[in-house]
Amino acid sequence: MTSADPTSDTPPPEESAGEATDPPASPAGPVSPPPAAEGPTAPPADPAESPAHLLELDNIKKHFGSVIALDGVSFDLRPGECHCLLGDNGAGKSTFIKTMSGVHQPTEGQIRFAGEPVVFHNPHDAIQRGIATVYQDLGMIPLMSVSRNFFMGNEPRKRWLGIPVFDHATANRITMEEMNRMGIQLRSADQAVGTLSGGERQTVAIARAVYFGAKILILDEPTSALGVRQTSNVLATIDKVRKQGIGVVFISHNIRHAIAVGDRFTVLNRGRTLGTARRGEITEGELQDMMAGGKELAVLDSSLGGTI
Ligand SMILES: Nc1ncnc2c1ncn2[C@@H]1O[C@H](COP(=O)(O)OP(=O)(O)OP(=O)(O)O)[C@@H](O)[C@H]1O
Ligand SMILES: [Mg+2]
Repeated sequence: MTSADPTSDTPPPEESAGEATDPPASPAGPVSPPPAAEGPTAPPADPAESPAHLLELDNIKKHFGSVIALDGVSFDLRPGECHCLLGDNGAGKSTFIKTMSGVHQPTEGQIRFAGEPVVFHNPHDAIQRGIATVYQDLGMIPLMSVSRNFFMGNEPRKRWLGIPVFDHATANRITMEEMNRMGIQLRSADQAVGTLSGGERQTVAIARAVYFGAKILILDEPTSALGVRQTSNVLATIDKVRKQGIGVVFISHNIRHAIAVGDRFTVLNRGRTLGTARRGEITEGELQDMMAGGKELAVLDSSLGGTI
């Protein structure tokens, strides 16, 4: 992991999005480098066996008025693992990760970060701990260059005639280096983000979160709008990130994508968790069945002639 450019004058990251609002414009956006310069711990051979927890959520409940979005969900994340959060539409996945990242405060339940109880009053509190969230809109400005987007809110500066100005050359060099590390060769860091493919854009968002010191990376359906090749690029990026000791929470509808990289799988169904399984302990079919809630899938299955 690289640390952020010390020349940056870090403006306050995004404001609290408050309750029941959309995520902040740039939630994944540059997190400030962690105060202690220590990087993530090296992952053990099987990260799902690591005794250390980066994040633990116990019995989280979230009510929106009379709507019970989460009804007692527990989840934990270890360094260097990819923990997949699966579930159908309305299962509570987004609500749950917004609780992890400080957008929502739980109605009940406890969150622990590195073993210590924490309360995230707003997204900034979570970002300060190194929790970076990449939402589907990626919080990027398509007409701006890759390097401008990469450093948005954390611009490296240099002095020109005594005035601090954006250090274009440094920003471009670091952007190219970090994208290379993720396996993407950009034509130029000056090209507009809007000209990149969906998978490349995802990688920019992931690479900048990692560069700015994320210890936990939450990805909300990063592969949902991607074709086969771009999906495999993003899955390969997740694998690289995990190997650096960062814990990844990967939200997906797609079991194949989850199985390709996941170390553990937690299925949400109508605000409840149906349990967590480790890689190798569960088949694709079993996960599919859990996601759809067993019985309903069986009914559908027969009416469609067993095609599901
Ligand atoms: N701000 C809110 N106010 C009221 N109800 C909400 C709010 N946010 C979520 N809900 C409800 O909570 C439930 C879970 O929603 P959530 O968006 O977390 O599901 P999801 O698993 O992310 O679904 P999808 O796969 O469609 O994105 C839904 O019934 C939803 O209508
Ligand atoms: Mg959602």
